[in-house]
Amino acid sequence: MRTSFFSVAAAAALAFAGLGSAADADEWKSRSIYQVMIDRYAHDDGSTDTTCEMHLFCGGTWKGLKNKLDYIQDMGFTAVQISPIVKNMNDHTAVGDAYHGYWSVDNYALNDKFGTEQDFKDLVAELHKRDMLLMVDVVVNNMVQAFDNVVPPKIDFSKFNPFNDEKYFHPYCNVTQWENSTDYQNCWLYPYGVALADLATETKPVADELSKWVKGLVANYSIDGLRIDAAKHVNDAFLPQFVEASGVFAFGEVLTGVPKDMCRYQTLGLLPGMPNYLEYYPLNKAFNGGSLADVAKLRNDAASTCNDTLVLGSFIENHDMPRFANQNDDLALAKNAMTYILLNDGIPTVYQGQEQHFKGNGTPFNREPLWTSKYDKTAPLYTLTATLNKARNNAIKLSPEYLSKTSETLWVDVNHLCLKKGPAGSQIVFCINNKSSKGDSYESTVGGFKPNEKIVEVVGCKTSTTNSFGNVTMYMGNGEPKVYVLASSLTGTDICPQTTEDAPVKKKNGAGVLGVTGSVLLTAVIGWAAVFLA
Ligand SMILES: *[C@@H]1O[C@H](CO)[C@@H](O)[C@H](O)[C@H]1NC(C)=O
Ligand SMILES: *[C@@H]1O[C@H](CO)[C@@H](O)[C@H](O)[C@H]1NC(C)=O
Ligand SMILES: *[C@@H]1O[C@H](CO)[C@@H](O)[C@H](O)[C@H]1NC(C)=O
Ligand SMILES: *[C@@H]1O[C@H](CO)[C@@H](O)[C@H](O)[C@H]1NC(C)=O
Ligand SMILES: *[C@@H]1O[C@H](CO)[C@@H](O)[C@H](O)[C@H]1NC(C)=O
Ligand SMILES: *[C@@H]1O[C@H](CO)[C@@H](O)[C@H](O)[C@H]1NC(C)=O
Repeated sequence: MRTSFFSVAAAAALAFAGLGSAADADEWKSRSIYQVMIDRYAHDDGSTDTTCEMHLFCGGTWKGLKNKLDYIQDMGFTAVQISPIVKNMNDHTAVGDAYHGYWSVDNYALNDKFGTEQDFKDLVAELHKRDMLLMVDVVVNNMVQAFDNVVPPKIDFSKFNPFNDEKYFHPYCNVTQWENSTDYQNCWLYPYGVALADLATETKPVADELSKWVKGLVANYSIDGLRIDAAKHVNDAFLPQFVEASGVFAFGEVLTGVPKDMCRYQTLGLLPGMPNYLEYYPLNKAFNGGSLADVAKLRNDAASTCNDTLVLGSFIENHDMPRFANQNDDLALAKNAMTYILLNDGIPTVYQGQEQHFKGNGTPFNREPLWTSKYDKTAPLYTLTATLNKARNNAIKLSPEYLSKTSETLWVDVNHLCLKKGPAGSQIVFCINNKSSKGDSYESTVGGFKPNEKIVEVVGCKTSTTNSFGNVTMYMGNGEPKVYVLASSLTGTDICPQTTEDAPVKKKNGAGVLGVTGSVLLTAVIGWAAVFLA
């Protein structure tokens, strides 16, 4: 249910049906999110020829985003997450300007660097017209002022709205103990160039004011969901109160790779969802000298520690981490990572520029203006994303069970991970690998279907038929991912309008078909089966 479209009667009817806020989480589970940093997405006029300094404003706006929604929607995304919208400080600091929107000074004014209030409302209206949801990033941990590194910082609290008095803040201390929650929740984060004056969210006046504020923000602008920045750095009890007041679904940023540290936010009912930092680390590593078996292991750990992995946000890039291609720019690896993100359990979240294979390092270099790509819709990761989002959207349409059950692991070894997502009839069977574009050509096999079914591999648009055991022969090569669906499930879609019969991958130089001999294949299958059973 889209909250913004609720009439009072519809909301009451839903509450009566016993759904309420659960419907919000369920609606978000069906979505696929494209993450936008407003200053870096598009100019008002859509121009693509301007350059800019990465630590200063680059000129992207809400109107720019509104005018370029086709680019996002044509990739199959059904929701957009945007950087914070409230007024920030204007100071220039040693670490740059507030182009990213995270340096709030006035929660009750929109950020005029990104346009007028009407521009923002027009953006939201256009998203909703397209049946797309809007998630807005909000900052609750702190208010911000420039800082000359003289400790303790001298803050002019009168500049903040509404928290215009020292009494709303924790006394200054610098976070130093990252394992001590009192320290990382009550001390001030990141005291370099800016002072992040730390709000005392455990006090009633601060908690009540932030709850009142977010309720108004969501209602005034028809916001459908929130990302809560630095959620780990505010006290636990604040979070559920704040989320409840907002009335919408929220991802809270909990930056940890340790299942028990993240999952407690779910099992204690503190947050409805979190970006999936648990899988982020092993997934990243699997493509950088690690193993896909470690991803499978983490999946099991998370499944047994969290109570609902379906509501985590699957990602491999965001505005805080170095780009995937910064470490290894091999395109086949990026395709496998993208395939996993889009078809994994949970809510896919793709950060702008990932589809253009951007390569920036840590902040601010991971915030490249998207216009430098000229919004190229023929880029290989763009077209892959479009295909896989469409396949996912189609599977959800065919059976809501796609969203309510976690995927089944069909096969895993250090180089491969094959999962089956969704019930028979609308299942997606996919295999990622970490062999890179230099990967060898070989045949392998994966299950997940019934005997003698017609299937389509949608990345290459290849058709084949499952064997008498319901297995698919995979013709692997060049490290490409494989994604199989039933041919019958594609009726009425524009996925793979033209297909060819699947066949062994030819060597890149065209020197001939590189298959494997029967005995090599058999050995391979037995080897994999052993890993599978271990
Ligand atoms: C904050 O602590 C870090 C060590 O964790 C130290 O490097 C930095 O200088 C401190 N900054 C201030 C302003 O105290
Ligand atoms: C945790 O941090 C707080 C605040 O900095 C400090 O008072 C407390 O002693 C620390 N606890 C431990 C166990 O070190
Ligand atoms: C929402 O609108 C109301 C009525 O105009 C206003 O009083 C309130 O401050 C607004 N809230 C926010 C967060 O903009
Ligand atoms: C997860 O735990 C929370 C808090 O106990 C509970 O409200 C929620 O229903 C649980 N979800 C699932 C899928 O078990
Ligand atoms: C893929 O996994 C293997 C086995 O763990 C590892 O040796 C290899 O370096 C990985 N490939 C990449 C590109 O990281
Ligand atoms: C079918 O594929 C699975 C992997 O999903 C494999 O373990 C099994 O050996 C295959 N069976 C046959 C008969 O090919």
